[in-house]
Amino acid sequence: MKTLNLDLGEKSYPIYIGQELLNQAQLLTRHITGKQVMIVTNTTVAPLYLAKVKSLLASFTVAEVILPDGEQYKTLETVNLIFDALLENRFDRSCTLIALGGGVVGDMTGYASASYQRGVNFIQIPTTLLSQVDSSVGGKTGVNHPLGKNMIGAFHQPKCVVIDVDTLDTLDDRQYSAGMAEVIKYGLLGNADFLDYLQNNMANLMARDKVLIIQSVYQSCFDKAEIVAQDELESGKRALLNLGHTFGHAIENTLGYGVFLHGEAISVGMLMAAELSHRLGDLTTQEVLQVKDLLEKSNLPISVNGKISALEFLSAMRVDKKVIDGRIRLILMKKLGQSYITDNYKKEQLEQVIGDFCES
Ligand code: NAD
Ligand code: GLY
Repeated sequence: MKTLNLDLGEKSYPIYIGQELLNQAQLLTRHITGKQVMIVTNTTVAPLYLAKVKSLLASFTVAEVILPDGEQYKTLETVNLIFDALLENRFDRSCTLIALGGGVVGDMTGYASASYQRGVNFIQIPTTLLSQVDSSVGGKTGVNHPLGKNMIGAFHQPKCVVIDVDTLDTLDDRQYSAGMAEVIKYGLLGNADFLDYLQNNMANLMARDKVLIIQSVYQSCFDKAEIVAQDELESGKRALLNLGHTFGHAIENTLGYGVFLHGEAISVGMLMAAELSHRLGDLTTQEVLQVKDLLEKSNLPISVNGKISALEFLSAMRVDKKVIDGRIRLILMKKLGQSYITDNYKKEQLEQVIGDFCES
C-alpha cells in the first residue's frame, strides 16, 4: 500500500492507495468519529461492495442509503434522501458518513456531510478511476443545478481517502477511459515527466496492468494534493485542475448528462485547450497531435461530432465558475506540462476553435 498525505494543517488527511484495502478494517475505523456510521452508495455499487464495507464496521451502528445511479440524480433532491436517512436514524453531530462509489456519490455525500448539522465527519471510498484520481481528493463537494453543473456546493475535506484499485475490476471500459482523461490532465497541466510516462505506458494501462494503475493513481493524487495544499479554496493555482473543464462543462450542459461522460467531455475540452494554445503561438502542431494521439489511445472522444452548434457551445461556456465580469477565463498550455489561467485571447480565436470542433 502507498500512503500520501494531503497537507492542510489541522485538516490534513491520508490517501491510502493499493489492492485489497477493503479487507483492512482499521484503515477505515481509525478515522471514524462517534458510533454512528452512514454508508452512502448507489444502486450499482451497493450489490458489489456494500456488504464488504459493512463487514468492516461491526463495532459501529451502521445505516445505509442507496441513491439512484446517474449524473442526472446529482441534485439537491437526491441529497435530501441522505438527510432523510440521517434524521430518520437520529444521527447526531458526532456521526461519520462514508461515500462508497464514483464521483457522483462522493460529491453528494461530501455536500451532505458539509451541511448536516453544519458539518460532520466523512470518508471517501472512491470506486471509479475518475473518483480515485480526482473527485475524492481535495474537498470539493456539491450538486448540479438545472442551469449549470456543480453550481451548488461547499469545500469540505474528508478524514481519509481509501483507494482500493481492485474495485476497478468491475468498472466497464467506457468509464475506465473516462477516468483516464483526468489522469492525462495531470500530465498536461503540470507534469511533463508523467505525460511521457503515460505516452510510453498507455497500451498497458488500457490493458489494466495493476502496477501501472497504482503508480498512475498515486502520481495523480500526489500532483493534486500538492496543488490543493497550496490553494485549498481555489483563489489561484487550483484553477489549473480545471484544464479542459470550461469546454467540457459546456458539452455536458448542452447535451444533457450521460451523452458524454464527464471524463469524455474533458477529453474534448483538453484538446480544444491545446488547439487554442496552438493558435496563440504556444503549442506546436506536433504537440497538439501528441495530445490527440494520447486521448485516442485511451479510447476517448476528440470532437463533439456535430452534436452541438458553435453558437450553443459558446453560450454554454458562459455558465462557468471561472467566468468573471463576462470574460471567460481558460486554462491553456504554454507547453505540454505547463498550464496557466488566462483571458488574454481574442474572441475570434476561441470562436474558430469552437467552430472546428463543432463541425460534423
Ligand atoms: P459516476 O459516479 O457516475 O460513476 C460512473 C458509473 O460507474 C456509475 O454508473 C457508477 O454507479 C458506476 N460505478 C462506480 N464504481 C463502480 C465499480 N467499481 N464497478 C462498476 N461500476 C461502478 O461518475 P465518475 O466518473 O466517478 O464521477 C463523475 C462526477 O465526479 C461528476 O459529477 C463530476 O462533476 C465529479 N467530479 C468532481 C470532482 C471534485 O473535485 N469533487 C472532480 C472531478 C469530477
Ligand atoms: N477537479 C478540480 C478540483 O478539484 O479542483
